[in-house]
Amino acid sequence: MTVVGVIGAGMVGSSTAMRIGEAHLASRIGIVDVREGVARAMALDIGQALPSLGSDARVVAGWEGIEGAAVVVMTAGLPRGPGQSRADLLADNGRIVVDCCRQIRDRAPDSVVIVVTNPLDEMTSLAQRVLGFPATRVIGMAGTLDSARFRAFIAERLGVAPTSVVALTLGSHGETMVPVPRLCTVDGKPLPELLPAAEIEALVQRTRDGGAEIVRLLERGSAWWAPSAAILDLVRAIVCDERSVHPVCAMCRGQFGIRNTYVGVPARLGRAGVVEIVDPGLKPDEVAALRLAAEQVAARVADLGGVLGDDADERTSAPEAAEAQLRVGVRDLAYASRVRAAARRELARRGQLHRLEEVVQAALRRTGA
Ligand code: 2OP
Repeated sequence: MTVVGVIGAGMVGSSTAMRIGEAHLASRIGIVDVREGVARAMALDIGQALPSLGSDARVVAGWEGIEGAAVVVMTAGLPRGPGQSRADLLADNGRIVVDCCRQIRDRAPDSVVIVVTNPLDEMTSLAQRVLGFPATRVIGMAGTLDSARFRAFIAERLGVAPTSVVALTLGSHGETMVPVPRLCTVDGKPLPELLPAAEIEALVQRTRDGGAEIVRLLERGSAWWAPSAAILDLVRAIVCDERSVHPVCAMCRGQFGIRNTYVGVPARLGRAGVVEIVDPGLKPDEVAALRLAAEQVAARVADLGGVLGDDADERTSAPEAAEAQLRVGVRDLAYASRVRAAARRELARRGQLHRLEEVVQAALRRTGA
């Protein structure tokens, strides 16, 4: 029996539960919401839809529905309003993530947890800290969604089938998203051979703003069809032990020079979560953008302690080591940020900003950071 839990019965959560049922990925789907009636209504509605679609999955409302789950998808949280950034949700959604992760930890201790709640990268870090699971079993869903949006925009611009476009976005699910046009292809041809740089940059920016564009149009709430489709890809990869590579928010332990920090990277996923983080052959400027994204995530994760107080400092038994590593990562990156800021000031004064990367790397090598 395969159990998949979905926390949050809003549009993202309920469409995810429906997709999992339709895709025959679970024999039981647990669906939980702080509004118990909504979770029960969704369990009934989805449960009554599945027989017509040839699926025998049972849909159970409430925390008991996720007991023993192999995968838990965490979607609970306030959605963005128009004009709000994902980071504006930090404190409110942080408290929700802490509460839900305590339940997940007790009821589905062997699960792989996919965090979808925004701000995605910070909530994934927080979830791992509270769950105390190995970081390989806690990931965030963002790059899969952002890459799908990038594919759709490229396909629309070139008038080709979206399925003929391969696109990759890394970094954070926010301002420091790192779409990698160099590695995008259309029917096998590299994107930079098909469009001028300025047009690619416009598509990159539209991808960064892809979620906000929908928030603005909806006026209330945020996207759900594309997020739930992207979540389904990850659930399938895990439940079916596919070992396929997906851009997800994963804990880097030295890859790309990023230590103990969650950020969007390509990861091979299987039944146990992240099997390995895969380097798609990034160039130094792409690695630098990824590191910058990681630094910003690390700085906001450090802020979480102030916002959430003791809750963000929750400690559990074995996971203390993981948490300690996270703190080390935050320190490493905070240190790297300070070095970079000081170097930028000094080089700007001397009119030598072009040397920034070289000077920062040399300083970090000297201190072993
Ligand atoms: C989005 O980008 C909800 O963050 C999600 O649509």
